[in-house]
Amino acid sequence: MKNKRDSSVILGQDVAIGEHVHFGPNVVIGDRVKIGHHVVIKEGVTIEHDVDIGDFAIIGNPPLRGPSPLPPTRIEAGTRIGPRAIIYKGALIKRNCYVADLATIRERVIIGDHTIIGRGVAIENDTEIGSRVKIETNAYITAYSNLGDDVFIAPAVVTSNDPTAARSSHPIRLKGITVKTGGRIGAGAVILPGITIHKEALVGAGSVVTKDVPEKVIVIGNPARILKAVPEEQWLSCLRSAAQNENHLQ
Ligand SMILES: CC(C)(COP(=O)(O)OP(=O)(O)OC[C@H]1O[C@@H](n2cnc3c(N)ncnc32)[C@H](O)[C@@H]1OP(=O)(O)O)[C@@H](O)C(=O)NCCC(=O)NCCS
Repeated sequence: MKNKRDSSVILGQDVAIGEHVHFGPNVVIGDRVKIGHHVVIKEGVTIEHDVDIGDFAIIGNPPLRGPSPLPPTRIEAGTRIGPRAIIYKGALIKRNCYVADLATIRERVIIGDHTIIGRGVAIENDTEIGSRVKIETNAYITAYSNLGDDVFIAPAVVTSNDPTAARSSHPIRLKGITVKTGGRIGAGAVILPGITIHKEALVGAGSVVTKDVPEKVIVIGNPARILKAVPEEQWLSCLRSAAQNENHLQ
C-alpha cells in the first residue's frame, strides 16, 4: 500500500504527499502543505497552511508515560519540520518556525513564532520557548524550562533539572532552567537545575553555571563568575534601533 489514510482525514488544496505516508484518524492538513516520504502523522494532529514536513518525520507521537489526556499536536502556518524530526503529542509549534532534522520536541512544549530549533536538539516535556529564539545543534533543553523571546542557545549546551541526579529519597521536584528575554548561552555550557539567566545576560562558552546570572552581565568559568557587563552594542534595544535606521536609509 502506497499511503494509509483514515477516512476522517481532512486534506486542504494542493497538498503534496510523498510515498508511504501514514495518517491517523482526525488529522487536518491545510492548503499547500508538503509532506515527504515515510512520514507518520498520528491521531488528531492539525497542520496549518504552507507547512513543509521532511522525510521520515513523526508528528503527534504519544509519550511512553505521564499524565493524560494530552491536547492534540498543532503545527502552525509556514513552519518547516526537517527529516526524521519527532514532534510529540501535545506539542504546539507556532508560525514560521524551523525545526531541523533529528530534533525531538516532547509533549506540552510550546514554541513561539519564528523560532529555530537546530539539528538534533532535544526539548523535553512541559517547556515553553518564546519567539525568535535560536537553539543550535545538539543542545539539550531539560523538562520544565522556560526560554523567553530572542534567547540564543549555542551548540551542545546542556541544561539540567534534578539536583540529586536521580538519587532523591523524597518525591523529586524537578526544576528546569529559565532564560529571560535576550539571554544567551555559549557553546558547551552546563546550566544546573533551577537556575535563572536574567535578561540579556551571556554565559561564556564551556561555563558551568551554579548561581543565577544577573541582567546584562557576562559570566565565565567553572563555577561561572562575572567577567564584565554585556557591551551596549549587543543589547537588543541597540540592535533594534540599528536595524530601524538601516530600514530608513533604504
Ligand atoms: C565570554 C566571552 C563572550 C568573552 O569574550 P571577550 O569579551 O572577547 O573576552 P576576552 O576574549 O577578552 O577574554 C577575557 C578573559 O576571559 C577569559 N575567557 C574568555 N572566554 C572565556 C570562557 N568562555 N571561559 C573561560 N575563560 C574565558 C580569557 O581567557 C581572558 O582571560 P585573561 O584576561 O586571563 O587573558 C567569549 O569568550 C565567549 O565565550 N563567547 C561565546 C562564544 C560562543 O559560544 N558562541 C556560540 C556560537 S558558536
